[in-house]
Amino acid sequence: MSAKESLQAEDAYFASNPPPKQLAAHTTLAEAFITQHAAANRRVVLVTSGGTTVPLEKNTVRFIDNFSAGTRGATSAEYFLSAGYAVIFLHRQFSLLPYSRHYSHSTDCLLDLLHEDSDGRVAVRPDDSVRILDVLRKYQSARRDNMLLLLPFVTIGDYLHELRSVARLMAPLGSSGLLYLAAAVSDFFVPPERLSEHKIQSTNIVEKLYPKNTSSPSPSPQIEDEETFDNFDASPRVPRSKRLIIDLDPVPKFLKSLVEGWAPLGMIVSFKLETDPRILVHKARYSLERYQHHLVVGNLLSTRKWEVVFVAPGREDRWLRVARHGGWGDAEGRPLRPDEAPEGDPEEEIEALIIPAVAELHDAHIAKSKNGEKK
Ligand code: PMT
Repeated sequence: MSAKESLQAEDAYFASNPPPKQLAAHTTLAEAFITQHAAANRRVVLVTSGGTTVPLEKNTVRFIDNFSAGTRGATSAEYFLSAGYAVIFLHRQFSLLPYSRHYSHSTDCLLDLLHEDSDGRVAVRPDDSVRILDVLRKYQSARRDNMLLLLPFVTIGDYLHELRSVARLMAPLGSSGLLYLAAAVSDFFVPPERLSEHKIQSTNIVEKLYPKNTSSPSPSPQIEDEETFDNFDASPRVPRSKRLIIDLDPVPKFLKSLVEGWAPLGMIVSFKLETDPRILVHKARYSLERYQHHLVVGNLLSTRKWEVVFVAPGREDRWLRVARHGGWGDAEGRPLRPDEAPEGDPEEEIEALIIPAVAELHDAHIAKSKNGEKK
């Protein structure tokens, strides 16, 4: 696709997919946040996190979703804050958040850490108070210093509108802006012109009640199920009228727009998710060559908490791995096969390795762009 064609695809996408209601409010918040931290000469990172939904109806009852709980994004945001970055956290609504993620319902339920003391007051159980205090201090410091801006999204359309707006606001930061795209982004969606207005029905009741799209109901509706069966289908035989066949279009690749238009001087880090270890590095390299950005962090679904690979222009591929009892694979430290993924979570968070390594590449990106500016 030529640059002109991809710009046209981008314009068509944004013109036909409505922005989220909160876009203007989010843009105002993001602008003030960026201005404040730019004035303090602080680096700003946009972290995207969690899954994007694909609605099947305008009045959405059903949608397609993906596995991401936002662990990578929420954990990364904490390490960026520790490294001194101001963080815009563009996340899927109700997915994990920095700091509170430690006490989500699926990890440690906060209620289990509390008890009633002898005066009838609620208190933290003494054994848990040290680790809660550590998280609490970091959380309160981020809030006090306005270092963390939370912007929620739900659908793929919301996400792309928000991403474009925030990325454009970050453009004036030049090379000190960092975009870290850890959200699990849908590759396919239903375009608005094919979206059903109302809940998709499993019967043809609407057509029977309102024949030929009339606005008043038919006086004698014939409501019975169609008995049209496919003759090629074995058991269970399902009438064609009861099937739901979903026809999805590809979501335009926005990484190109990001690199070329929205935030051309910032450092752009994308993630590449695969399940087949044989293609991970190739696809990461391909993405880098295609979009000409600065770093692809490759990860496999099954081992993503244990190892990732950094693929960057002009550098050797670099695997980052958390410490693992019993060592790693063979002597070459080959990547884990999906069936070798250890049970549970590692003791060390891999983001503790990822963020310092990204920050180091960001230093180099800033230095390179300053040298370029001097010439
Ligand atoms: O939340 P967790 O459970 O911790 O999981 C973390 C994670 C596995 C989701 C995360 O580490 C990760 O890999 N995120 C990227 C997932 C993804 O969208 O991968 P992809 O291979 O489908 O896309 C690759 C890149 O293309 C992504 O950076 C995406 O932002 C970008 N993209 C995707 C779709 C699209 N239409 N245009 C794009 O530019």
